[in-house]
Amino acid sequence: SRSIRLAVIPGDGIGPEVVAQGLKVLTAVLPPDVKLETREYDLGARRWHATGETLPDAELESLRQYDAILLGAVGDPSVPSGVLERGLLLKLRFAFDHYVNLRPSRLYPGTASPLAGRPEIDFVVVREGTEGPYTGNGGSLRTGTPAEVATEVSVNTAHGVERVVRDAYTRAQARPRKKLTLVHKNNVLVYAGQLWKSVFDRVGREFPEVTTDYLHVDAATIFLVSQPERFDVIVTDNLFGDILTDLAAAVSGGIGIAASGNINPEGAFPSMFEPVHGSAPDIAGTGRADPTATVLSVALLLRHLGLTAEAERIEAAVAADLAGRGTTVRGTEQIGDALAAAAAR
Ligand code: NAD
Ligand code: IPM
Ligand code: MN
Repeated sequence: SRSIRLAVIPGDGIGPEVVAQGLKVLTAVLPPDVKLETREYDLGARRWHATGETLPDAELESLRQYDAILLGAVGDPSVPSGVLERGLLLKLRFAFDHYVNLRPSRLYPGTASPLAGRPEIDFVVVREGTEGPYTGNGGSLRTGTPAEVATEVSVNTAHGVERVVRDAYTRAQARPRKKLTLVHKNNVLVYAGQLWKSVFDRVGREFPEVTTDYLHVDAATIFLVSQPERFDVIVTDNLFGDILTDLAAAVSGGIGIAASGNINPEGAFPSMFEPVHGSAPDIAGTGRADPTATVLSVALLLRHLGLTAEAERIEAAVAADLAGRGTTVRGTEQIGDALAAAAAR
């Protein structure tokens, strides 16, 4: 018998609503000999208002001992933009060296998509998770004056680029189509673009079976809509990957079903699983949030922990549920109940 130690950060807005459903499905799908131990962390807007804390060092340290982290969403209109996003979410991704931000897109039959009838959408974005313009390497001069100057420098290291590019090649190699597309903007961002392209070409020599392609990010947005079937694995930097994966979600069934994993492939730190979407303040508290993205993130979590059959049962339950949705409108809990019942052993 084994046990899973899971840290849970429900967070803000719809975060707690969707995480409750994710845990419901997780509990339903686990075999009796797998013991689930969870600890919930009270982090997010409520905590910040109460104590001024986003993620105290002691809590960050205590999170290290878990097998994985399940996160809902962070960010709230009552908190200055960036405080929780940087102080909580990005702090976790950086501290736990989540350099592979894995964001799969599949067009499930039955989902509402502007591209419905294109069942060939099946790609995964490997988004770099610890560098780029997300490092906080910026500043402002003459702040608040008409002469203000603001910078936000994109940091790209040979080490950081190489490890995520190699991970993406490894994933491409393991897939039937074996194709990897680098997305950047090396016609304008020439220094970072040159680093990414040279590492991409060099590491590619280790993977002779993988077909490679390069697209500027602006063109990539065209092809994600007009020819999504051309993508198998995409590797890109932190910011391009953020933007591309919201677009990918929108064309492949909606933001309500897009899952992600923030992976530390070496297992030196716990990996963290979360829906691609945010706290959705516009629908928080209405019971209308789709928990499917969180449930599919739980499937990614189980796969990461080697519980492949359980992950597959969740994915099959989601596929069947999406196929049968039609025009029926259900709430967060109803969808969670249905998925838990369908995935239960
Ligand atoms: P958002 O993803 O929260 O919402 C965008 C739109 O998608 C909204 O109309 C929302 O109602 C809808 N939506 C999102 N999730 C849904 C779901 N599960 N079911 C149905 N509809 C859903 O993005 P935003 O509005 O740009 O950001 C809101 C807040 O969330 C901000 O504070 C932002 O910083 C934060 N955010 C956090 C994360 C995260 O925690 N990983 C991700 C994105 C945004
Ligand atoms: C996401 C979010 C985050 C990001 C924000 C909230 C920091 O948009 O997970 O996609 O930009 O990575
Ligand atoms: Mn995003």
